[in-house]
Amino acid sequence: MNTSTESLSYRIHPRAYWSPEQRTQELLHLFPHVWLFAGLMLELQEKMHYGVRLGETELLLQRDAQGNPRAFLNVCSHRHAKLCEPGLHKGPVRCPYHSWVFDRQGIPTGIPQKKAFPMVMADPEKFRLKEFPCAAVGQFIFVRLSPQGPSLQEYLGNQYDFLEHASLGMNGVLDEFQEDVAANWKIVIENSLEGYHIPAVHNRTFGQIDGMSREEQAPTFFLDDPLHSHLEHSANSDWVTRFARMGKKIGQWPWRFEHYTHHLIFPNLTVTSFMGYSFHIQRFDPISTNRTHVHSRTLGVHFTNATEVGCKMMERIHADGHSFTRKVFIEDGDICGKIQKGVEQATQYAVLGQGIEDRVAHFQKSYQSLMTREPTKYSHTENN
Ligand code: FES
Ligand SMILES: [Fe+2]
Repeated sequence: MNTSTESLSYRIHPRAYWSPEQRTQELLHLFPHVWLFAGLMLELQEKMHYGVRLGETELLLQRDAQGNPRAFLNVCSHRHAKLCEPGLHKGPVRCPYHSWVFDRQGIPTGIPQKKAFPMVMADPEKFRLKEFPCAAVGQFIFVRLSPQGPSLQEYLGNQYDFLEHASLGMNGVLDEFQEDVAANWKIVIENSLEGYHIPAVHNRTFGQIDGMSREEQAPTFFLDDPLHSHLEHSANSDWVTRFARMGKKIGQWPWRFEHYTHHLIFPNLTVTSFMGYSFHIQRFDPISTNRTHVHSRTLGVHFTNATEVGCKMMERIHADGHSFTRKVFIEDGDICGKIQKGVEQATQYAVLGQGIEDRVAHFQKSYQSLMTREPTKYSHTENN
């Protein structure tokens, strides 16, 4: 348990949620050294490429000939045009300016009027796109902007197993939306880490359909990792009974558990699931000091032995889940905007409740440990 003095030394000052200097420091000291969630293997099929922005770095992802994900700077090696817009694109990477085409290793292989570029033709590999370390666990693709650092598995710790399990049978995106929230990325993340605001902010949404046993039992926090954290909250017994009754019709899915879980994979990914029949993932991109781009996807998993009636039942449960997720997102976005306006005026540190806001405290501690470059197990240099 933290002493109050120790906790306070790790608190994030309100200024850090809006100051341009803080953002510069984050872009220098934090984002390059962590593994950032970038995309999903199931979306990145062969002959596709995917544009994604992480911090202030524009990347493109594609699979190489072996099927491994690779991440490249989204900038042409001819005269630096941006190669693709965010999102999924079919076919090879083709520059919109003079139509250079790059292969799956990022090497220019198609150059109009190639005789004009004897140096490139003699050694095309030398003119390959700048590449970043990229690795996947299950369906989840991560990129590290710095060439040196821990392996993905070392960085993720226990969350590696979780993401591997969550990926079992994951078979497609059931729902997706992207929105900007008018708040610093840390406000958006912190808001996702506590349920204390639920009665005030989500009184019309939560508690009605999410099946969590709020009254009966407090959630369990898992705070042992230096960066990541998660919680488990037992499912309402009515829901468990309801699923047991539907069992013969809806069939089985690969990883069934009887709780709600929320994971923060520091710093830009949250994964939540109720009973493992779908996974809601959100990627947070800090686009400015007071704006965060949120990419939200709900992923389905493969059910076996489902009857037609069972499939319809699950479709209904998923549809309810999507509309619930969107309502909750709007409510959270509104309150985050208000918090942003507040921190811009605040001069004192926030107060965090013991036992209810421990994950926020843990996040602040993780953040500060990276920003102040205190030695951690991640500070050594090791090539991926
Ligand atoms: S800038 Fe890309 S082909 Fe010229
Ligand atoms: Fe919320």
